[in-house]
This record gives sequence, structure tokens and C-alpha cells, in this order.
Amino acid sequence: MSRLDEVTGEESAAAAELEYEPPASPNGLEQPQHARRARVGMEPEPEVVDQREVAPVVRLVVAHVRIVAPGTVPTVTEDRARGAPRLIETAHLVLREWRDEDLEPMARIDRDPTVTRYLRNPPATPFTRRETEELVTRIRAHWEEHRFGLYAVVEKETEEFIGFIGLAIPAFLPQILPAVEVGWRLDPAFWGRGLATEGARACLPVAFVDLRLHDVVSIGHAENAASIRVMEKLGMRHDRDAVHPAQGWPLRIFRLSRTEWQAGAGGLRG
Ligand SMILES: CC(C)(COP(=O)(O)OP(=O)(O)OC[C@H]1O[C@@H](n2cnc3c(N)ncnc32)[C@H](O)[C@@H]1OP(=O)(O)O)[C@@H](O)C(=O)NCCC(=O)NCCS
Repeated sequence: MSRLDEVTGEESAAAAELEYEPPASPNGLEQPQHARRARVGMEPEPEVVDQREVAPVVRLVVAHVRIVAPGTVPTVTEDRARGAPRLIETAHLVLREWRDEDLEPMARIDRDPTVTRYLRNPPATPFTRRETEELVTRIRAHWEEHRFGLYAVVEKETEEFIGFIGLAIPAFLPQILPAVEVGWRLDPAFWGRGLATEGARACLPVAFVDLRLHDVVSIGHAENAASIRVMEKLGMRHDRDAVHPAQGWPLRIFRLSRTEWQAGAGGLRG
């Protein structure tokens, strides 16, 4: 689940800033990339070539795209300095960058009380249009800052925008940081067809291959059975429980390590 909107807009943004604003370095210069990576639980980058020394045309790279054919797993051949792929295609879904026109269908999904049941307090409180706008702004800012994030999801057959799936830093739960969460929120019209699992499964190579994370977590309301079932189908294991700092409700935290994923947990390699 994405928790980018678990705290109300302003609080969430403030929390994220507090948590992730790099401390000023002694010489006042920007914190190096490897330090930023460490804060989100990534391995340090190998020595990086200063892009400015490379001819500018090299930086006009072709879009980082991945097509996930059933039964295959990407190999570690890609330049991870590019971060996550900006487009992932699976059997039934396209996970892509956000567009302005996604706002309307996302706001419609966010107004649905069955969607907000385990995301809001009281449960059936819809997200307002403004809250959805703030959420999408934060998702896009997360992509800018970290080079990975939650994807806009399109169902291939209908070509409809159906929600989001992807990776995000769970800033709302400081006790678990540094961590990266795999999360999801889909249009109820598309539930129960395995789409959340399919999309999330395609995000695991992003975490483990592109970003070289050691592990990935997923955090859900303890009673959100559908979401917890998705975690289980991904091969994640129950790690610990917690209490939502702002809402006070019980949270269940699942975790999957790169080693477990490489060993084929949850049928991830097939
Ligand atoms: C969670 C969510 C993304 C799941 O999407 P989905 O595409 O239906 O998920 P999948 O079809 O891949 O898997 C759902 C699984 O949960 C099961 N499930 C659904 N409702 C359930 C319930 N009430 N109790 C137990 N299991 C349930 C389904 O049967 C399926 O398991 P199965 O394949 O073993 O039969 C969707 O319900 C959603 O968007 N919910 C609202 C937002 C939300 O809560 N996000 C997560 C926050 S942690």
C-alpha cells in the first residue's frame, strides 16, 4: 500500500521533509548521492562518472523501459544509475509515468468508500479532490528525488487508468526506516483478477535488480485481508506488527529479502 497519503497532506509532506532532508554537509555542499541512497536502504553506488564530463548527447538516453514476459526475470545488465524503469509492461498491465489526465480517474478511485476502508479514519471518508492532487504531486516529487516511485497503472485490454502500484519510502512510519515499500491501490472494478499481484511482482526486479535493495517491505492495516493476501502471494513473510503513528490502528508489516526473491519466493521468477 502506498502510505504517501496516510497522514493528511501537509503533515505527510512535512514528515517526509524532516525524515529525508539531507543534513547539511560540513562544507555546505549537497550531500553525495551515495549518502542519499543509504538513507533509503540502497547499497552505495560504485564510483560514479561525473555526467558533466560525458558528452551531453549521452544523457539523452532512450527511455528506460521493461517488458516482462511471463516466466522471465530481468538480468543485471542495466545501468542502475538510471534508477527505476519509467515504463513496465506485464501481461495485462502497463505501469507508466504519471500524466495530468490521470488525476480525474485517480480522484474517482479515491472517492470510493470501499477503497478508503483501510486507508482512512473514519474508514469511509473519501479523499477530497485536493487530497488526491496532493498525493499525485507527492508521488511525482518522490520520482524526481529518488528515481523510483509509484507507477500509474493502465489495464491493457480497456486502456483504462486503474490506479497505482510501485515502490515508495514509507515516511509515515519512522521506526521502519530506512525502507522501501511495495504498495498498491486499484479501481474496485478491477479487483480480484490478480492485477495488484501481477503489477507488484513486476516491481520486485526494480527493487532488487535496478535499485539493488536488500529487502522490500509492505505495510497494511491488519484487517486489510486483500492487501495482506497480495503480500503473501508475492512471497513476503510477516516481519512484525506496529501501530499507525497518526491513526492508531494496527499495522502488519511484511518483508521480502533479495535472497528470498532470488530463491524464487512466491513464484516470483515464473
Ligand atoms: C489491495 C488491492 C490493491 C488488491 O487488488 P487486487 O487486484 O484485487 O489483488 P489480487 O487480485 O492480486 O489479489 C487479491 C487477493 O486477496 C483475496 N481477497 C480479496 N478480498 C479478500 C478478503 N476480504 N478476505 C480474504 N482475502 C481476500 C483475493 O481472493 C486474492 O487472493 P487469491 O488470488 O488467493 O484468491 C485492492 O483491494 C485495493 O486497491 N484496495 C484498496 C486500497 C488498499 O487497501 N490498498 C492497500 C493498502 S495496504
